[in-house]
Amino acid sequence: LHEKHGKRNIVLCGFMGSGKTTIGRKLARLTGLEFIDADQYLEAREGKKIPDIFAEQGEAYFRDRECAYIRELSQREGIVLSLGGGAVLRPENVKAVRETGLLIHLDTPYYRILKNLSYSNTRPLLAGPDKQAETRRLYNARKAVYHHAADISVRSPKISEVLEKVVKSI
Ligand code: S3P
Repeated sequence: LHEKHGKRNIVLCGFMGSGKTTIGRKLARLTGLEFIDADQYLEAREGKKIPDIFAEQGEAYFRDRECAYIRELSQREGIVLSLGGGAVLRPENVKAVRETGLLIHLDTPYYRILKNLSYSNTRPLLAGPDKQAETRRLYNARKAVYHHAADISVRSPKISEVLEKVVKSI
């Protein structure tokens, strides 16, 4: 892991429903690194679920806490870290994770993302009346950000193929 890129962590970014948590967990198992999901970490530390944080404290509060926890997690050694879908919108988060980690963008095809999101009611940003339109709008607005933030992008609708590609690149 260290030889090719000299980084001690692997960090996954990408749109909601791109498979960051599923793939991160499998990747950790394959590499022997510890898996941490940034959203789950935040929920545990705040003692609250993300939809409740959005509803009670607002998105700005969530983004500030997210930023603080990402800074903290970036100090760790030997982890696979899955970020929340909006984390890379803040350049300081990108800077923090890339100091110690290889940042990989899961460029999962849109139809697969939609499938993954179809049963989700835990994502406050997609809670409006027209979920499909909102998803499309956010996806279009963010696509370039993920590409620019990451060291590499990996694209496949199949989890096994994504894993294969990631393992080859680390
Ligand atoms: C968000 C994505 C979510 C979570 C929060 C905001 C976003 O994470 O951090 O609801 O802005 O895209 P997932 O990408 O794990 O759904």
